[in-house]
This record gives sequence, C-alpha cells and structure tokens, in this order.
Amino acid sequence: MSEDSKILERMFPGDILPNVYPKETRPSGNDMERIDDILNSNIFNVMLNRRSQRKFENKGIEPWKVDIIFAAADTAPTAGGFQGFEIFHITKDELKEKLVTAANKQPYVNAPLVLVFCINSNRIKLNFPENIIRKFSIQDATLAAGYAQLSAHALGLSSIWIGMFDEQLVKNIINTDLQPSSILCIGYPKKMLLPKPKRKLTDLIHTL
Ligand SMILES: Cc1cc2nc3c(=O)[nH]c(=O)nc-3n(C[C@H](O)[C@H](O)[C@H](O)COP(=O)(O)O)c2cc1C
Repeated sequence: MSEDSKILERMFPGDILPNVYPKETRPSGNDMERIDDILNSNIFNVMLNRRSQRKFENKGIEPWKVDIIFAAADTAPTAGGFQGFEIFHITKDELKEKLVTAANKQPYVNAPLVLVFCINSNRIKLNFPENIIRKFSIQDATLAAGYAQLSAHALGLSSIWIGMFDEQLVKNIINTDLQPSSILCIGYPKKMLLPKPKRKLTDLIHTL
C-alpha cells in the first residue's frame, strides 16, 4: 500500500483491508493498484469532467470505493475543525424509496449509493452567535458533500446532488433531529455525459 492509500485508514485505523471486509468484497491485488492510481488522479481532470447524472446502472458499488468517498468527505475543511455535520449512509431499499417521495418523487434518489448530509451545529464549540454557528454547519455539510461528489467521479462513478426535498420528511425517514442539507446519489452511470457549458469566467468573476 502506498502512502496515499492510507486515506482508507481514516475509516478503520490499523490493518483495515484484510480484516474489515468479507472475503468476497475485499479489494483484490488489481484493485489495490487501481486504488493507488485513483488516489493519484489529477484533481483538475476530475473537476473538469464531472457532470451530474440521473441514470445509474443497477450495480452495487464496491465497499472500498464507498470507504474512499467517506474518507474524502472527511478531508473537507470544517469550521474550527469541529466537523459540524453527519453523513447518513442509506442502505435499506425501503428507506431509499421513502426518500424518493420526500424528494419530490425524483426517482434517481433510489440510487446504488445514497448519502444524506446533515448539519450538526452542536459539534461546533466556538463562541459565536447561533446564526453564525448554524451557517458554519451548513457550510461544513455542503463542503463535505462536495468533496464526496468529486471523489465519486475520481472513482469512475457519477452522481446527482439533491437539494429539493422536504426536510421534515427526510428527518422522519432517517430518524434524526438533525437538519438534512443535501442528498448525494451515486452510482455507475448508464452513459458518461459531457460536462455542461458554463457562463464565461469573465462574467462570473467580479474583480474589485
Ligand atoms: C444546491 C443544489 C441543489 C440541487 N438540487 C437538485 C435536485 O433536487 N434535483 C436534481 O435533479 N438536481 C439537483 N441539483 C443538480 C443540478 O441541477 C446540477 O448540478 C446542475 O444542473 C449543473 O449540472 P452539472 O452538475 O452537470 O454541472 C442540485 C445542485 C445543487 C448544487
């Protein structure tokens, strides 16, 4: 394992790979080489080629890829380093179906990998007004989801960010009082799509 592969140890400190997974889902020798390639992938390449995807193959995602996505989310900066967010990994089909309903019936929410990012402002131990702490936790959860989304693309997966959902319904479904900020739906794309055109950078950037 290279130094880079140690990202996986953020999930399971110690000798994770041989122990954690059932034998049939452990990364094989080839996968280990691919992990090194993936961890050395060029971030600009990933950013430039990411495109939202709403059609996924009916195919599960290798557990080691899921772990890299979690570990990548955990590399995002957070306010004061307090990690004011939580990730709910939805594995049960019936919960995914309920999330579809909570998300305005968007069918692709029933994706192979569904992650609900919630804000947890109680974790942020900074002496600032409540509205600032809340803003921090929203930013923490959003950044982590963004990092997870990019890492998914580096792993050859595609994703769709879901912001349109009924917060109370989502809270009920995942059984939490924490406010959900986004749902990230990830899977193998049916077809790789080209990135969307954007407005000119000169229109986007306001230099003062
Ligand atoms: C805050 C936010 C909320 C979004 N909510 C939804 C959503 O509820 N449903 C959906 O299909 N796409 C949603 N998207 C995905 C956007 O539609 C998509 O990112 C946008 O069209 C740009 O396409 P691209 O990601 O391929 O660049 C959301 C994206 C963001 C950043």
